[in-house]
Amino acid sequence: MNQTDLFEDVLTLPDPRGQADFDRLVGLDEYKARLVKETLLLVDPGQLRDWNKTHHRGELVAVQYFHSRPPLFLLAGDVGTGKTALARSFGNEVAKRARVRVELYALSLNTRGSGAVGEMTRLISGAFKQVREDVGKTRGGDGKAGRGIILLIDEADALAQSREAAQMHHEDRAGVNSLIRGVDDIAAERLPVAVVMCTNRLDAIDPAVRRRAAAVFEFSRPSREQRLHVLKDGLAGSGFTDRELSQLADATGEADGRTHGFTYSDLTQRLIPTLVLDAFPERAVTGARAIEIAKGLKPTPPFRELADTARHGAHHGR
Ligand SMILES: Nc1ncnc2c1ncn2[C@@H]1O[C@H](COP(=O)(O)OP(=O)(O)OP(=O)(O)O)[C@@H](O)[C@H]1O
Ligand SMILES: [Mg+2]
Repeated sequence: MNQTDLFEDVLTLPDPRGQADFDRLVGLDEYKARLVKETLLLVDPGQLRDWNKTHHRGELVAVQYFHSRPPLFLLAGDVGTGKTALARSFGNEVAKRARVRVELYALSLNTRGSGAVGEMTRLISGAFKQVREDVGKTRGGDGKAGRGIILLIDEADALAQSREAAQMHHEDRAGVNSLIRGVDDIAAERLPVAVVMCTNRLDAIDPAVRRRAAAVFEFSRPSREQRLHVLKDGLAGSGFTDRELSQLADATGEADGRTHGFTYSDLTQRLIPTLVLDAFPERAVTGARAIEIAKGLKPTPPFRELADTARHGAHHGR
C-alpha cells in the first residue's frame, strides 16, 4: 500500500492558499492558537525549554508533562462549522513559526473506509505506519525536528458509528485499537506528529480514544455577530450598507421560528455564491435582492436532527 492509496492528499505547508483559508476562519481564534502552539511544541520542543528558562529558571516541572502526552486533538461539532477547514490549514502557521516543513496527511474515513469489513483497520494502521516512516527520527541537537506531520483523520464518525453497541463487529473494534496503538506509539517515540480527528458526534467516539485527547474542541454555528463578520468579508466591494448587512445577518439567523441559523458553510458555499449567480451577468448584486434570497434559503438542519431523523426512520422500518 503506498501513500496515494492511503491518503486523499498529502500537502506540503506553508502554502499560500491554505494560509488564506486559515485567516478567513471566523470565531475560532482560541482553537487556532491552541492547535498551533501544541503542534509547534511537538516539532520544536526546545521552545518550551527556553520558555522555562526565561520564566522559571528552568525549574518548572510541569513542562515534563508535555513530553509523553498523546498528541491527539478532537474537533467535534455541527456540520459546516470549520472543523475540516481548520484542521487542514493550521499547519501553515506552524510551518511559518517553526520554520520547518509541515506536511498534512489527510485520511477521510467517510469516503475511503466504508467498504469491506477490516478496511478501516487496514486504513488506520497503514496510515500510522506510513506517517512514522515518512517523518523520520532526525532531530537536531536542540531537539528540533526537521519536519512535522499532521495526520488528519476526517469524518471519524465512520469509525465511531461502526462501534455502536448493537452492531459492533470484532473487526471494527480492531479499527479503534489500531488508532489507539498508533497514537500511543507516536507519543512514546516523541515523534513530531499531531493527530487531528474531526467528527460530528463526539458522544460516539470511543471513550479510550477520547481519554487520550490532549484537547477536545467543540464547534458550533455562527452567532449573529459572526454571521455579520462572514457576510462583511464575503460581500466586501458590493456596496451593501451596514443596515442591509445587518438585515442579512438577521435573515440568516433563527428567523421564522426555526431553532437554528445558517452554518458557516451555508453562508460561504450557498448564500454568497447564489447572490453572485443571481446577478450575473446582467445586474449588480444588491442588498434588497440579497435579503430576499436569504429568506428563501433554508439552513442545513443541525447534525443532531439529521441523526435523529435517520434513527427514527430505522425504527419505523423494523
Ligand atoms: N468558522 C468559519 N469561518 C468562516 N468560514 C467558515 C467557518 N467554518 C466553515 N466555514 C466555511 O465553510 C466551509 C466548510 O467548512 P468545513 O468543511 O470546515 O466544515 P466542517 O465543520 O468540516 O463540516 P462537516 O461536519 O460537514 O464536515 C469552509 O470551507 C469555509 O468556507
Ligand atoms: Mg468536515
